[in-house]
Amino acid sequence: MSATDTVVILDFGSQYTQLIARRVREAGVYSEIHPCTVTAKEVAAMHPKAVILSGGPSSVTDADAPPFDPAVFDLGLPTLCICYGMQLLAHHQPGGAVAASTDREYGRAELTVLADVPLFAGLPDGGSRTVWMSHGDKVVAPPAGFVVAARTKNVDIAALANVERRMYALQFHPEVAHTEDGERILHNFLFGIAGLTPGWTMAGFVETELAKLREKVGEDEVVCALSGGVDSTVVAVMLHKAIGKKLHCIFVDNGLLRLGEGEEVAAYLREHFALNLHYIDASKLFLGRLAGVTDPEQKRKIIGTTFIEVFEVEAAKLPKVKYLAQGTLYPDVIESVSFKGPSAVIKSHHNVGGLPEHMKLALIEPLRELFKDEVRKVAVELGMPDFIIWRHPFPGPGLAIRIIGEVTEERLEILRRTDKIVQNELQASGWYRKVWQGFAVLLPLKTVGVMGDGRTYENVAAIRVVDSLDAMTADWSRLPSELVAAMSNRIINEVKGVNRVVFDVSSKPPSTIEWE
Ligand code: XMP
Repeated sequence: MSATDTVVILDFGSQYTQLIARRVREAGVYSEIHPCTVTAKEVAAMHPKAVILSGGPSSVTDADAPPFDPAVFDLGLPTLCICYGMQLLAHHQPGGAVAASTDREYGRAELTVLADVPLFAGLPDGGSRTVWMSHGDKVVAPPAGFVVAARTKNVDIAALANVERRMYALQFHPEVAHTEDGERILHNFLFGIAGLTPGWTMAGFVETELAKLREKVGEDEVVCALSGGVDSTVVAVMLHKAIGKKLHCIFVDNGLLRLGEGEEVAAYLREHFALNLHYIDASKLFLGRLAGVTDPEQKRKIIGTTFIEVFEVEAAKLPKVKYLAQGTLYPDVIESVSFKGPSAVIKSHHNVGGLPEHMKLALIEPLRELFKDEVRKVAVELGMPDFIIWRHPFPGPGLAIRIIGEVTEERLEILRRTDKIVQNELQASGWYRKVWQGFAVLLPLKTVGVMGDGRTYENVAAIRVVDSLDAMTADWSRLPSELVAAMSNRIINEVKGVNRVVFDVSSKPPSTIEWE
């Protein structure tokens, strides 16, 4: 960790918990999310400079409300309680009361500030401001020692303040962009009230992380599976900077990559970082095993197990290797359903397709404290080029799950050329960075067309371009029709074997982003 000041966020299951953590980090303060089941003693042992209680979907009066140790309120730490957190405060502090209600208030509300408290310092005077609400219950009596600091039309007690104890509560969500002055309110809490020093920068992170990596690895060696995506490339470059040739990167070319992609990433890494790169061309093995296979799950399984096999064979040639480096990110680490208690499942991740335990390698995960946007900032810090930093996500099974039906060399070639045009046109029009992901899919379908004077009977390709924040949900991107037309014209004119192009207008759910 590069910063000494840490904010601990207790997670009660709100969809916005990660957003709170990101807002705090954007303010230059390191924050960590912990499940609400941690005790006050455990929180104290983390030595945070402030605590934030998140919102959550439960009701404090429910029999199965998430477990919480109210002694957290007695730690003497600056505390900000948001939404469900506010109800917890009122529920557990003497004199406070919460009324259960079945109607939820969701969306914008107009907030009127009632008290001149440090949390609202510098907010433009008078009138009201828009805030984002999402709650069922509400506080109906303030705990002893707390003043009511704001109200909305529907909520008489929309904010609570105990200036002396540096404890505050908000019924609305300051972390959400729709809340006017939300950033000011959070900054007031972090800097004005808790007196934190912003010290969390990506440059600082890189510096301390490199030192930690050097110390941890010592004289041992590390292996890393490089996919060409931003996460694994950043991991490789960081480790290379830390331990040089003691890092071995294995790039498995499964023959299912986009046009020129494997070579492009490998060449870049070799040229700029003199990386110890083991480029394994296993495409024949993969394609051989995929011959005749049309079932999507079977394709995925074959590719996953073949990857592990190839990786193991290569790693076995490196006897000094003790560690496996992975690009695990913070969202993979946080318990996703934390409020159900310590037994809750931790999200598994499959960055390298889940390597078998018998490999007995200890894990090194230098990005496990970071969000995706922070990884991109690290990449900038490391001097990496845009084509790696902003590369769209690409699935492990590669083009195999974008060729519906059997995967053959010939169909791969058609899809690669088609996909390249989609990529080129997205980039040339400036849309590449605006969308989450854009690619082509090859359908197992032939249709009739006419070219010149002749009849054609060729393949149909689909264009899939989506907007998304986290790939959990997605909507098809409203690209300008001229851009779609340019893609279609070029594909039909330039790619032999395609005579029809369709545009996918499905959202997720119920469709998925990939077609298989
Ligand atoms: P779906 O198709 O489930 O995709 O909506 C969500 C996101 O995940 C990517 N994806 C994968 N990534 N291995 C990966 O590393 C996989 O097997 C895989 N399948 C889908 C997909 O490209 C999208 O960004």
